[in-house]
Amino acid sequence: MSVLRPKVELHCHVEGAAFPALVQRVAARNGIDLPGLFDAEGQFLWHDFSSFLGAYDQASAVFRTPEDFRDLTFTHFTSIAAEGAIYGEVFISVDHGFASGLSYADYVGGLAQGILDAEAETSIVGRMVATGVRHFGPDRVRAAAEIAANEPHPLVTGFGVAGDERMHHPRDFIDAFRIAGEAGLGLTAHAGELCGPESVRAALDHLNISRIGHGVRAIEDPALVERIVSEGVVLELCPGSNVALGLYPDIASHPFRRLMEAGVRVTVSSDDPPYFGSSIGAEYEWLEHDQQFDEAEFAQINRTAVEAAFVDEATRSRLLARLTD
Ligand code: ADE
Ligand code: ZN
Repeated sequence: MSVLRPKVELHCHVEGAAFPALVQRVAARNGIDLPGLFDAEGQFLWHDFSSFLGAYDQASAVFRTPEDFRDLTFTHFTSIAAEGAIYGEVFISVDHGFASGLSYADYVGGLAQGILDAEAETSIVGRMVATGVRHFGPDRVRAAAEIAANEPHPLVTGFGVAGDERMHHPRDFIDAFRIAGEAGLGLTAHAGELCGPESVRAALDHLNISRIGHGVRAIEDPALVERIVSEGVVLELCPGSNVALGLYPDIASHPFRRLMEAGVRVTVSSDDPPYFGSSIGAEYEWLEHDQQFDEAEFAQINRTAVEAAFVDEATRSRLLARLTD
């Protein structure tokens, strides 16, 4: 029997991890219609980043109760555990939580219950990174940081910003990241996905982050790659997502290996699996088959991910030990 390669995922949006079957089941439970959300094959219908965000919002809106959110994380974490994941972080969205009609405490409480139930069943360890949505504006992102800081939860260990990178500048989010950082949350920001290397440089200049969501387009600027290496910043790379969104024509041409060989601390994640036809298991397979990654390289990627995880040191030691079991 083949043994599953262990996996660690740092970059997955929890609402973006809801597969069509779960969205339909929860929508039926809550009496919600979903016009135009699915194509003829039952997959989410979108054709560019803006329509992806629209479909994402429509699907997210079916989740209304703590139980719905519990089912979301339970389904996600048990399914990545079945692919070999021993640790996962999910980006939760403070504003999507409010849009469901729940308080932050009930939103996070439901999500946390699913993570703990999945851990009891599979031993997978999970944490949450509270995010603000960039295109909702700096005030909303700051409010997201404030609530994450003022209502701490043991499984919410990070803060970040997601959404449309083309809107606003990192300096508009300085306060939000300062508040979250002072509350002891790990910091990450999406950059260098839709926008070029200048967006990565600006995020590093202003937000005091240890990780970058994507950051892949740093490859276009060798001096920036050198800076990322020398500062030890970790990239949450999501090759399948980048290909689905048209940044690169295929996995073979994705700069994953070039970044790693330049000395960048890289990790691999699925981002929004059902939208991008990905999964954490598929990402590892793509790297193996289309970029010839071997076991030693996967071990390095996993170690980097655990080193960069937003966890306490005792949990980090346990996860590092599990990687070599
Ligand atoms: N929110 C959900 N998925 C995202 C992505 N790939 N980029 C930015 N924001 C997102
Ligand atoms: Zn993302």
